[in-house]
Amino acid sequence: MAEKSKILIIGGTGYIGKFVVEAGAKSGHPTFALVRKRTVSLPYKARIIDGFKSSGVTLLHGDVNDKESLVNAIKQVDVVISTHGTGQISGQAKIIAAIKEAGNIKRFFPSEFGSDMTRVTAFEPVKTECEMKTQIRRTIEAEGIPYTYVYCNYFAGYFFPAFAQPGLSSPPRDKVIILGDGNPRAVLNDERDIGTYTIKAVDDPRTLNKSLYIKPTKNIYSFNEIFSLWEKKIGKTLKRTYVPEDQILKRIQESMDFQLAIDHSVFVKGDQTNFEIDPSFGVEASELYPDVKYTTVEELLDRLV
Ligand SMILES: NC(=O)c1ccc[n+]([C@@H]2O[C@H](COP(=O)([O-])OP(=O)(O)OC[C@H]3O[C@@H](n4cnc5c(N)ncnc54)[C@H](OP(=O)(O)O)[C@@H]3O)[C@@H](O)[C@H]2O)c1
Repeated sequence: MAEKSKILIIGGTGYIGKFVVEAGAKSGHPTFALVRKRTVSLPYKARIIDGFKSSGVTLLHGDVNDKESLVNAIKQVDVVISTHGTGQISGQAKIIAAIKEAGNIKRFFPSEFGSDMTRVTAFEPVKTECEMKTQIRRTIEAEGIPYTYVYCNYFAGYFFPAFAQPGLSSPPRDKVIILGDGNPRAVLNDERDIGTYTIKAVDDPRTLNKSLYIKPTKNIYSFNEIFSLWEKKIGKTLKRTYVPEDQILKRIQESMDFQLAIDHSVFVKGDQTNFEIDPSFGVEASELYPDVKYTTVEELLDRLV
């Protein structure tokens, strides 16, 4: 049997990165995390790093802005996964240059981990983010670097427990605010599953130079559907207030609220579900890996009742 690829995660101490590192270590892939020196001393990050150490992850100190440390780290692995955050996307140009210089990388996963940004109805400040992610993809392709783009759609942890309700930190039990008419569907995925599917794709020839969409059927819900299910679970009817699209757009324009602009695309425009995945460019994760027992939205709701 072929050996499992060695994987470097850049951004492993970030929100989604830690789940990708965890999945890499669990799967038996030799897993490496590039960690900035200053990060080690932050108490919250130190806990994540301790978790990495006890799972057998190899820590490499370095920084994307320090070319020598970056190239050295890349030379030790076969596959690079970047989970750079919002606002840090263009910094990945340095990772691409280092991959070219190192010359040994079999596959690069740039930081996508959201909607397929080429299909998003984007208003600022999301528009700039979309353009940067698209630019990074075009550079990877122009440089001839083998790639996989992971579109995991909505992080469940960003939606639950407050169901995207402004000002709430616990589940709504009396009233809810719904963007638009509440009918377009989103895809809500548990972060551990996102890590698992990403790592499964690493050595899979079916995901080479393809987009991997994580769209398991039991996690596709509209606002209206999710609140109807929640009402059943808590045995109560919620007062629903619908916000018309023109009001949402006005608020986005006035406040430059990044999350609201994303929610407009996802819940008002249905940009995560309003297209078919054509095999010429993409594959769906739960179809490729039916062995993964993913956490369903209904299971996530049960935990909140
Ligand atoms: N689907 C969704 O619902 C959703 C929600 C939010 C974000 N996203 C997407 O998910 C992706 C990751 O976002 P995130 O929120 O998980 O990111 P994040 O928490 O901001 O983490 C970014 C990581 O990148 C690291 N990093 C930044 N600059 C670096 C440098 N110069 N050298 C080395 N490491 C560096 C950070 O290191 P330190 O730990 O040292 O700071 C951190 O670990 C993005 O593409 C974002 O658009 C999706």
